[in-house]
Amino acid sequence: MRLKEKMQGVVPQECLSKLSDGFHVIGNIAILSLAPELASYKNEIAGAVLSSGKNIHTVLNKTSKLQGERRVAGFEFLAGVANTVTTHKEFGFLYRLDVANVFWNSHLGYERIRVAAAVMAGEDVLLPFSGVGPFAVPLAARGAHVLALEKSREACLYLAENARLNRVERMIAIINADACHMAKLLSKDFHRAVIPAPYGADGILEAALPLVKSKGLLHFYTFKKLHQIEPLKKSYEDLGLEVMQARRCGNVAPGVSRWVFDLAKS
Ligand SMILES: C[S@@+](CC[C@H](N)C(=O)[O-])C[C@H]1O[C@@H](n2cnc3c(N)ncnc32)[C@H](O)[C@@H]1O
Repeated sequence: MRLKEKMQGVVPQECLSKLSDGFHVIGNIAILSLAPELASYKNEIAGAVLSSGKNIHTVLNKTSKLQGERRVAGFEFLAGVANTVTTHKEFGFLYRLDVANVFWNSHLGYERIRVAAAVMAGEDVLLPFSGVGPFAVPLAARGAHVLALEKSREACLYLAENARLNRVERMIAIINADACHMAKLLSKDFHRAVIPAPYGADGILEAALPLVKSKGLLHFYTFKKLHQIEPLKKSYEDLGLEVMQARRCGNVAPGVSRWVFDLAKS
């Protein structure tokens, strides 16, 4: 039975339209984003989610948007086990993470596998903003040597654990540092760079370019409005890059989408 049906007679009709049937599940944690009008019924709603038979152990309510450098939202605990650490499965890979302290976005799953599928065994891949490893692990499983740069120490610890969990720890080197300094930190160059840059970190592309071999490839993620795409392509071409593909991969705000640019260095 869908959540709304279950809440018939519990939540007044005039508020029921504010209740979404869907909720985000990371591992065994359900994440609701309840409208303020539903605050008085949050325990009943959480109880219904807990008993939804979807192997949910914990129900949280998101209380703020993604914030700060670590891109983590605020949460309130509603029901079940008061624990924000879980293990999430994505395309056969396992990821241990604390949803209250590190970034996770399940909507990028296809994109992560698309990029991994393009990698050849033996490639050296640079991966700043690696988080807990959803790009690094599939890339390493394809036989790439991944150098992951991540500023959050907690995310680095989970990345190390996830590399072990998926038996690719020998393929992933982790540097707990600010990616803005990578040109100074790194002396080698890479066949490929995968750059899931957080909002507003576009300048990182030019910092990464000298670290990519000629004829090397880059997958650069950015947040833009549609009318900004053509001028952006032009600016990449002015940097001597060939734009092989520009692909939308999810909406993040009204009119703003996450885009990935597949770029080739001359
Ligand atoms: C949007 S998340 C992407 C994480 C991961 N690639 C994923 O898809 O789940 C951005 C990550 O970059 C990290 N970060 C933010 N600023 C950074 C910086 N200057 N240098 C290195 N990592 C940074 C954050 O801690 C966070 O884990």
